[in-house]
Amino acid sequence: MPRISDGSRAPRIVIDDVHKNFKLRHTHSIKETALAALRRKPLTTDFHALDGVSFAVEEGESIALLGMNGSGKSTMLKLISGVLTPDRGRVRTRGRVAGLIEVGAGFHPDLSGRENIFLNAAILGMSKKETESRYEEIVAFSEIEQFIDTEVKHYSSGMFLRLAFSVAIHTEMDILLIDEILSVGDEPFQKKCIARVRQLHEQGKTLVVVSHDLNMVSNLCDRGVLLRHGKLQFDGDSHTAVELMRA
Ligand SMILES: Nc1ncnc2c1ncn2[C@@H]1O[C@H](COP(=O)(O)OP(=O)(O)OP(=O)(O)O)[C@@H](O)[C@H]1O
Ligand SMILES: [Mg+2]
Repeated sequence: MPRISDGSRAPRIVIDDVHKNFKLRHTHSIKETALAALRRKPLTTDFHALDGVSFAVEEGESIALLGMNGSGKSTMLKLISGVLTPDRGRVRTRGRVAGLIEVGAGFHPDLSGRENIFLNAAILGMSKKETESRYEEIVAFSEIEQFIDTEVKHYSSGMFLRLAFSVAIHTEMDILLIDEILSVGDEPFQKKCIARVRQLHEQGKTLVVVSHDLNMVSNLCDRGVLLRHGKLQFDGDSHTAVELMRA
């Protein structure tokens, strides 16, 4: 069913002339650092991971964030989720943001799967009661019931992903950020995740998806934002963005 926009709603995400620099170190030891300082050589140089990027995401849109390794995609997702702040420019979001950016972030290795569900859900803004009411569903989706009382340090990377994904999609959110991680899961689980992400989009959630699986993202997302060396190279139809990426 087409959504009727009343035109008065602010975008879900606004990226306005965003710059993010990282310091690259050039010394490895105290001795090297001292020598470089004596010779007045720079100890670090600024690296522009994002260099004046602007775009906005409207409510209910699904965006594929594309680009080669190191082009700034994960940095952009971390800025949207608030893990990082821009050096210049502005990042604004409207509504609750749930993110699957780094699998394992927000998980404690010495706690069990069960304890981590509560920890992670709390980080994502859910109360204990809310988490309790969704607990069974979270575990069922992850399909790792048998290991739910095992410490997560003994989990395989796929099991980790299953739990993290399941918690994230069962939280109350308006914006869902997904970084690459789906590739860790086995094929049946990947399919199940993609189907669920599609369903969330149909319910009106706003999606930003990073993946090197270009066929999957161009099918899942209407719009493609292509980054190259930290700059916005293209913003438009996702199939065109993928063609440009492959060119
Ligand atoms: N904390 C950091 N310190 C220094 N450099 C960083 C840091 N985080 C990212 N970078 C650099 O910024 C650039 C962009 O990194 P980013 O992780 O955003 O790339 P990406 O597009 O997600 O790449 P990939 O497809 O490999 O995941 C890279 O060159 C990376 O080395
Ligand atoms: Mg990345």
